[in-house]
Amino acid sequence: MSLYAVVLAAGQGKRMKSKLYKVLHPVCGKPMVGHVVDTLNEIHVDRTVVVVGHGAEAVQQYLGDGLEYALQAEQQGTGHAVLQTNQLLAGLEGTTIVICGDTPLVKADTLQIMLEQHREQGSAATILTVEMPNPTGYGRIIRDDAGHVVKIVEQKDCTREEALISEINSGTYIFDNEKLFAALAQVTNDNAQGEYYLTDVLHIMKAGGERIQAYCSNDVKESIGVNDRVLLAEAERYMRERINLSHMVNGVTIIDPEHTYIEKGVRIGSDTVLQPGTILKGDTVIGEDCVIGPETEITNSKIGNGVEIYKSVLLDAEVDDEAHVGPFAYLRPGAKLGKSVKIGDFVEVKNATIGDNSKVSHLSYVGDATIGSDVNFGCGAITVNYDGFNKHKTEIGDGSFIGSNVNLVAPVRIGNGSFVVAGSTITHNVDDNDLAVARVRQETKVGYAEIMRNKLKARSNKK
Ligand code: UD1
Ligand code: CA
Repeated sequence: MSLYAVVLAAGQGKRMKSKLYKVLHPVCGKPMVGHVVDTLNEIHVDRTVVVVGHGAEAVQQYLGDGLEYALQAEQQGTGHAVLQTNQLLAGLEGTTIVICGDTPLVKADTLQIMLEQHREQGSAATILTVEMPNPTGYGRIIRDDAGHVVKIVEQKDCTREEALISEINSGTYIFDNEKLFAALAQVTNDNAQGEYYLTDVLHIMKAGGERIQAYCSNDVKESIGVNDRVLLAEAERYMRERINLSHMVNGVTIIDPEHTYIEKGVRIGSDTVLQPGTILKGDTVIGEDCVIGPETEITNSKIGNGVEIYKSVLLDAEVDDEAHVGPFAYLRPGAKLGKSVKIGDFVEVKNATIGDNSKVSHLSYVGDATIGSDVNFGCGAITVNYDGFNKHKTEIGDGSFIGSNVNLVAPVRIGNGSFVVAGSTITHNVDDNDLAVARVRQETKVGYAEIMRNKLKARSNKK
């Protein structure tokens, strides 16, 4: 039987007090609605329709063409929102999951269990509920004396007794598709908010003799519906715990999980150790046996095995096995380090390839360069890649030695096995195995220090 999903994402999210549409607010680096769609993909939904309204273009642009969209031009409630998928889904035989774009923590496993129960029991609707210690703001689940679900009452429509009920509606449901649209047609906006509530579908079904049931999850946090920034932070914390846990289960040591921030989608090999203050973002892949951190931020980078990265920042960089980076290194887009490369303190590398076993140990800038293997790039040596208008390339062959405080004025090429003397400003190519000196020759005046001191003393006495 076909499985459909409707994601409600048309609301503005007034309580967020934001220029950004609510469902696009990120949780652990990914917009909330992206988490919801990921979860649906995990359980292999045949068709997903996203109801868009506020920020429709932005939401659609973010989610892309793989999904279907229904426009809800005016936000007249969650029931009205589902009704906008009428033309796409009404009358089809199948099962439909309805889920809110602001509940990023609902788990695929939970949906799977709900689906099984729903099908086994031949229900018209299965609601995901939870016992909330503080249920304020959520719809309450009303059961009869036998414990069967009768209806859902919204906070604003609750009687005093109903408000005391702590079992709440998470906003996630599974419906028989045909029965859903039949009931939706009967929903009115006769309530405190003057909206068409999706939740009214349940008592309409019940009144029609249909079977409705609740699946009460024991995971309170899973049902967080993010309406404001306080709940956003709560969702963030819970998602972070969940992501960190999955890496630990996979064999990654996280010294202080509360201070380790890993975006969804980052991959990490086993026996890698993450020190406190590590932030891993985007499409980052980290191999096995690495030590990362403390205080290290890595974005969209590929790190091999056995790499150490200490107090550094990496963006769109690649680091091969056994390399050592930091402390205080900055690898910018296009930095590619070979095996066992050493990048030391206060070194910046941008758009540059550095070959195996080469060392850039201290205080250097390497930009727009290709450096071979076994090169020693001395302390304070830099590539001079920019003339104010254009960027130029520096090339250094294998086994060369670049002395301290050398300026390599690009475009320039240093051959294999060459030697550039400390303090040189190199403006011409240096061939293989040549030595280049480009600085004023030293002059030493014998005994002149004493003479100089006396002169200076005499001058200061006169004043
Ligand atoms: C809704 C439920 C409530 C439940 C809670 C769980 C209803 C009437 N109430 O309340 O029982 O406890 O979720 O979090 O369904 N949306 C639209 N179009 C609209 C209105 C809303 O697309 O016209 C979308 C919003 O973008 C949001 C979702 O539906 O993603 C839920 O809407 P929201 O206004 O947050 O509903 P709640 O008041 O939280
Ligand atoms: Ca909500």
